[in-house]
Amino acid sequence: MDLLFFRLLCSLANNRVNIRKISDSCPRKWQYFAQNARAVKGIDYICSMGDIKKILITGASGFVGSRVAEALRNCYELLTPSHSELDVTSEKDVEHYIQGTQPDAILHLAAISNTGYCEEHPEESYKVNVVSVENMAKAASRHNIKLVWFSSDQVYNGNLEPGPLSEDIGVSPENHYGIHKLLAEKRAMEICPGSVALRATWMYDAPKPGMKTHSNFVLNFQKANENGTPLRFATREFRGITWIKDVVRNIPHTFDLPGGVYNFGAENHINSFETAVEYAKIQGIDPETVAIPDTERFPNHIRNLSISMRKAKEASGGRILFMNTIEGLYTFISQSTIKVPARP
Ligand SMILES: NC(=O)c1ccc[n+]([C@@H]2O[C@H](COP(=O)([O-])OP(=O)(O)OC[C@H]3O[C@@H](n4cnc5c(N)ncnc54)[C@H](OP(=O)(O)O)[C@@H]3O)[C@@H](O)[C@H]2O)c1
Repeated sequence: MDLLFFRLLCSLANNRVNIRKISDSCPRKWQYFAQNARAVKGIDYICSMGDIKKILITGASGFVGSRVAEALRNCYELLTPSHSELDVTSEKDVEHYIQGTQPDAILHLAAISNTGYCEEHPEESYKVNVVSVENMAKAASRHNIKLVWFSSDQVYNGNLEPGPLSEDIGVSPENHYGIHKLLAEKRAMEICPGSVALRATWMYDAPKPGMKTHSNFVLNFQKANENGTPLRFATREFRGITWIKDVVRNIPHTFDLPGGVYNFGAENHINSFETAVEYAKIQGIDPETVAIPDTERFPNHIRNLSISMRKAKEASGGRILFMNTIEGLYTFISQSTIKVPARP
């Protein structure tokens, strides 16, 4: 019943009906959902970016980059060189490109984002995930350009603390990808203290024509349901997962952040198995047909990548605001074309 009501609010929001009056009389939870659904939908949100007119986006053919570029294209002049047009691991090429094009801001998204590949190819991971950030930081510093780039919540994967993690706690990542992201954060801050590193969570979206979409929570889930093969979800793992649309709408505000490292994505206070159960319920699927609790994974310590968004929220004067993981999944399903067919 609650879900039906929420869907009605989202559908009103999508149709740009002023829902404030309606939602004022709703339970607080649904007011929040409804207002967020409207904010996510509004492209005008993205067009209010102060003095920034020209943005260099690296990695614009990637999962995040293609969606950010699509959203910002109508509002800003975008420079989106492909890998073959600009190899971000070459300091000389990066300097030459930035000197020649003079962007107002750099959104550095080019990376090797596959953690398994980084584990098997640590040298390549170092080159792309550390050296490229150094190159961007040097150019940003030389030309006084704001640099924003994506780190990862994987820097937390050696942490033993429970609960939402803040940026100021000590971290000791356990895989090459996380180690390299952490190293890149340190180097970027040394070279260009005004730069902004965003520790992103795992992100998801439905497939979009002409855009890269790699394996993600909702697609894995859909596949499991279609195949009738339940997936195992760890009960000893806590992590936020974030709809890319919520990431995209928050990005413009990151250019105003003071230099530093910020968590960036959905909070989540429940474990991965519980998250999967909630997602099944949102779609009216019997959780037992798609999700099996895996109590053995991560035997040495609970894997806690769950972030606190307090720092970015405060530093942005409340403008950087994410739905939590379950709210995001609700909103995604209400607005998306992806539907997981219920099996008999
Ligand atoms: N996806 C997630 O869930 C997630 C989670 C946390 C953090 N992040 C971070 O978010 C950022 C974006 O990730 P993503 O998922 O969009 O990655 P992605 O889909 O793998 O895209 C990576 C992009 O980088 C480009 N690239 C790779 N090496 C390059 C080089 N040497 N020179 C120029 N371009 C190069 C790729 O171009 P080609 O394909 O042409 O090589 C591609 O456009 C990354 O920093 C990633 O670590 C992602």
